[in-house]
Amino acid sequence: MSQVLDRAFGHPRGLLGRLGGALMAHGNAETERRVVEVARITSAETVLVLGPGPGIGLLAAAERAATTIGVDPSEEMLARCRDRCSALVEGGTVELRRGDAEHPGQPEASVDVALSVNNVQLWPDRAAGFAGLYRALRPGGRLVLSAHEKWLPVSRHRLADEVAAAGFTDLQTWVWQPPGRTPLAAQLRAYRPAE
Ligand SMILES: C[S@@+](CC[C@H](N)C(=O)[O-])C[C@H]1O[C@@H](n2cnc3c(N)ncnc32)[C@H](O)[C@@H]1O
Repeated sequence: MSQVLDRAFGHPRGLLGRLGGALMAHGNAETERRVVEVARITSAETVLVLGPGPGIGLLAAAERAATTIGVDPSEEMLARCRDRCSALVEGGTVELRRGDAEHPGQPEASVDVALSVNNVQLWPDRAAGFAGLYRALRPGGRLVLSAHEKWLPVSRHRLADEVAAAGFTDLQTWVWQPPGRTPLAAQLRAYRPAE
């Protein structure tokens, strides 16, 4: 990824990061909301939103869940999330923290749902990232992941194999075409096995 794209979208920072955040809030909004729908979040659940960027999916999840935790390595994006969810942050139902897929900073088995939209292509070590999300999920908890198919570093079927190798089960993968000109999304859902 070029340095400019990385500053705008990959690891958003500075002016380019703010611009990238605004573009993502517009272009990826339907996918973010779609993933929240697919996850079927209930009002008693705790949700981890990985790489929320400007926070569209974070807000949609927080409107359904008991507690929602946004984890992103970018201070710039965490600030956008704080702005978008300010009332919920103040009310204590949205928490925001710096972290990444490998180190979400979440206690073992503490969340019901983990959501990841358009960031798996940025993880430096996907096996460690999936292991980090697996640890954070309670037994029976679910992962829903989406990424622009054209940016995936491996096919979605290969990605599903990697998810299975981390211990997840009941895997499903499919593609979804967001409205407008947003590229085709590769998506998957998987579960940490119930004990
Ligand atoms: C392309 S943006 C996507 C943002 C939002 N989910 C969307 O679809 O509009 C990627 C986001 O993932 C974050 N990110 C980068 N590396 C990450 C990692 N290793 N783990 C989790 N998130 C990461 C970035 O800071 C950024 O907020």
